[in-house]
Amino acid sequence: MKIIVTGGAGFIGSNFVFYERKKHPEDEILCVDSLTYAGNLSTLEPVMNDDKFKFFKIDIRDRDSVYRLFEDEKPDIVVNFAAESHVDRSIENPTIFLETNIIGTSVLMDACRKYGIKRYHQVSTDEVYGDLPLDRPDMFFHEDTPIHTSSPYSTSKASADLLVMAYHRTYGLPVTISRCSNNYGPYQFPEKLIPLMIANALADKPLPVYGEGKNVRDWLYVEDHCKAIDLIIRNAKDGETYNIGGHNEMKNIEIVKLICDYLDKPYSLIEHVEDRKGHDMRYAIDPTKIHNDLGWLPETAFADGIKKTIQWYLDNKPWWENIISGDYMNYYEKMYGNRKVLD
Ligand code: NAD
Ligand code: TYD
Repeated sequence: MKIIVTGGAGFIGSNFVFYERKKHPEDEILCVDSLTYAGNLSTLEPVMNDDKFKFFKIDIRDRDSVYRLFEDEKPDIVVNFAAESHVDRSIENPTIFLETNIIGTSVLMDACRKYGIKRYHQVSTDEVYGDLPLDRPDMFFHEDTPIHTSSPYSTSKASADLLVMAYHRTYGLPVTISRCSNNYGPYQFPEKLIPLMIANALADKPLPVYGEGKNVRDWLYVEDHCKAIDLIIRNAKDGETYNIGGHNEMKNIEIVKLICDYLDKPYSLIEHVEDRKGHDMRYAIDPTKIHNDLGWLPETAFADGIKKTIQWYLDNKPWWENIISGDYMNYYEKMYGNRKVLD
């Protein structure tokens, strides 16, 4: 089988490439990535010389290049991870989110219609459901929870989901969608909460917690997400949507303190800063459907996953130190330089 993995030079996409190479060595992986600031070719070094792996530097918005690839390679499955993925960046500049996350998705699906495909899988997010109140721990996101977005990022992802279902209904495209909670693990770009806090703590820099840090996210180790997608693309029925999450809800402040504890750094590094605009309060996934239909269960407990992740960042300093030089420093200065520090 030939599987196109878009966004395979990013965080979850690269972990998925590694997972597939190990789990299904007979399958060929064609990685498509335009290498934005979030994509790193060095991440893919372990598989670059593998004869069942090919890398294509293609932007998913570029219809001609995408069509040429489909014509040359005739893929069986497409898994679309390629996206602008950071909420804070979407608040600064929504346009690129609409272009990549919505238009890019439509280009990929048009190629699937034109050249034929066994399955198009859309990697989506629990953020399409909006947020839940902090005082209702009984409430969870189910697959039929109404879409109700907050940020330009989540709106662009929800729009793409609607388009995917429209292509299924209108053109009969064989599609599936997965909506996962927050991932953590190796190769996550150090602008997201966990790797940012690890990198800053190691450098004894302030740890910028938005507002009071009471917002809750439902954390899943990245390999468990990859395993769920693998089950869906091979076993799920066309037209199905699955929520993915491991019932691991934590407040941001708890995560940051835990990182301080593991790295033996003082809580005095924590700095409460001006809150994110439109900040979602709580995400929480009900994963019953994927468990019942496909037998999926998370394997990595948070206590183990976070230790492995911190250890990975300690062992792979050149990977992230390289990333946080240059352009990233301009981003950091812009986002955090003028952010009001709260008392
Ligand atoms: P990421 O930002 O680390 O990686 C995105 C990758 O897509 C990068 O390699 C980038 O170069 C590539 N890309 C961006 N625009 C492109 C374009 N126009 N053409 C081709 N490639 C392009 O993101 P991630 O955290 O790995 O997320 C992957 C997917 O999973 C996204 O669709 C995201 O919405 C979804 N998701 C992420 C999380 C999470 O916690 N990170 C949770 C649920 C869902
Ligand atoms: P993030 O990793 O950006 O993921 P998402 O917004 O998609 O959930 O942020 C996770 C949580 O951490 C979110 O509530 C915002 C918060 N956060 C901070 O408090 N400080 C930071 O510097 C960052 C990047 C995030």
